[in-house]
Amino acid sequence: MSGGATFVGRVARAMAAAAVLSAIASAALTSGIAWRAAVRDGDRRLDQAAQTLGVEVPAKLTDAEAAAHADDEQLEVAPAGLRIALFAGGRRLGGDASLDPSHARGCRDDRAWRRCSVGIAGGRVVEVAGPRGPLRAQASALAAASLLAALVAGFAGVALSGRVSSRIVRPLRRLRDDVAAVDVANPGASWPAVNDGHAEIDALRDAVGGMLSRLDAALAQSQRFAADAAHELRTPLGALRAELELAAEEPGTPPELRAAQHRATEQVRSLGLLVERLLILAAPDDALRASREAVALCEVVEESLAALGATPRVRTDLDEAAHVRGDAVLLRALVDNLVTNALKFAPDGEVTVRVAADPDAVTVRVEDHGPGFDASERERVFEAFYRSPQARAGGVRGHGLGLALVHRIAAAHGGRACVADVPRGACVVVTLPRWRPSA
Ligand SMILES: Nc1ncnc2c1ncn2[C@@H]1O[C@H](COP(=O)(O)OP(=O)(O)OP(=O)(O)O)[C@@H](O)[C@H]1O
Ligand SMILES: [Mg+2]
Repeated sequence: MSGGATFVGRVARAMAAAAVLSAIASAALTSGIAWRAAVRDGDRRLDQAAQTLGVEVPAKLTDAEAAAHADDEQLEVAPAGLRIALFAGGRRLGGDASLDPSHARGCRDDRAWRRCSVGIAGGRVVEVAGPRGPLRAQASALAAASLLAALVAGFAGVALSGRVSSRIVRPLRRLRDDVAAVDVANPGASWPAVNDGHAEIDALRDAVGGMLSRLDAALAQSQRFAADAAHELRTPLGALRAELELAAEEPGTPPELRAAQHRATEQVRSLGLLVERLLILAAPDDALRASREAVALCEVVEESLAALGATPRVRTDLDEAAHVRGDAVLLRALVDNLVTNALKFAPDGEVTVRVAADPDAVTVRVEDHGPGFDASERERVFEAFYRSPQARAGGVRGHGLGLALVHRIAAAHGGRACVADVPRGACVVVTLPRWRPSA
C-alpha cells in the first residue's frame, strides 16, 4: 500500500470540515434570527407603552392635562427601566426630561438605548426608550448557546466522520480486493459476477468486467496466433530434417558438403526444439492440464539425467515418495531444463538434484556452484526470452526459454518455481502439490 493520503481519510476530513462549517453557519444564522426576534419583541413593548399613553391622551385634552398623563405614565414604566415623554410641535409636554423630541418615526438604536417614536391623536408624539443592555445580554446568551450546540455538532461530526466514510468506501475496498484477485492468465473468468447494490460501484464493476472479457479475447487470440504459427512451422521443419538426414546418407558426398549438411541438420534440430518449446508456452492452460497421470518424480529425474549423459557430475538425493499428478512429458521437460541450465552455466563442479516430499508438497531443487543469479534478475529469469547480460556476453547458447517453460509447467501443475538463496552458485526450486494414492 502506498504511503499517500487515503481516500477514506480525505472523505473523513472533508465530512468533518463540512460538519464544523455547517455547524458554525447554523450557529451564526440562529443567533442572527434570535437577535432580530428579541429586538422586535422589545420594540413591541415600547410601542405598546406609547399606544397606552396615546389612548389616555385623546386630542381633546389640553396640553396641561396631557402632560399630567405623561408624567403618570413615566412613573408607571420607570420600574421596568423604560422612559416615556410626550411632545407637541417639538416641545416637551411631560414625562421623562432626558428624552429629546425627534422628527423620525418608528424604532431605532440611540447609543445605549432602543428608542421608538409614535405619533398619536392631536398631532402629538410619544417618545419611548428602553435600555439595549438586557437585549444584548439576551442575544449574547442565545448566540453562546447556539455556538455551543454548533461545536457539539461539529465535534460529533468529526468523531463520526471516520467511521461513516469508512462505511461509504467499503464497496470500493471490495472492488479493490476483487481486482487484486484477478488471475492474469484468465482475467475475464476470474472476475466475480456479483452486484454490490450501489449503482455507481456496479457500473464500475461492469466496466472492469467488460474490460477483462475483452482482455480474455485478446489473450486467447494472441495465444492462438503463437500456437498456430508454431504448429505451422512444425511440419516443414520435420520434412526438412528428414530430407537432410536422407541426403547425409548419400554416398560419395565430399567431406566439406557433408560437414555443411551436418551443421544444417543441427540447426534444424535446434529449430525444431525451439518450436516444441514455443508450442508448450503458447498452449492454453487446459491443454497443459489435459494429462493427469500419477508421476514419480525420481523416475523423471533419473530418465532425464541418463538422457542428458549428466550422471558423472550430478549428485542426486531422491525421495521415492514424491509423486505428483500431471503430464510426465512436461515434467521431464521441466527437469531437463533445470539440469541443462546447471550444467551449462556452471561448467565445473558438482550439480545437486534433490527431490523431497512434504506432507502436502514435493520439491525439485537443482543447485550448482556456478556464477549464480544476480539479485536483480531473480524474477526476470522466468520471463520468456530473458537471458542475463553475462550469459549473452559469455557466448553461452540458448534462447532464454528454459526457465519460462519451467515456470509455465509448474504453474499448470498448480505449483510454482523460484530462485532460492544459496551461499554460492545457483539454486532453482520447483514446488508442486503432492499426490498420494489414497487422495
Ligand atoms: N544455473 C544457472 N546459473 C546461472 N544463471 C542461470 C542459471 N540458469 C539460468 N540462468 C540465467 O537465466 C537465464 C534464463 O535461463 P533459461 O534457461 O530461460 O535460458 P537459457 O538457458 O539462456 O536458454 P534456453 O533455456 O532457451 O536454452 C539464462 O540466460 C541465465 O542468464
Ligand atoms: Mg536454459
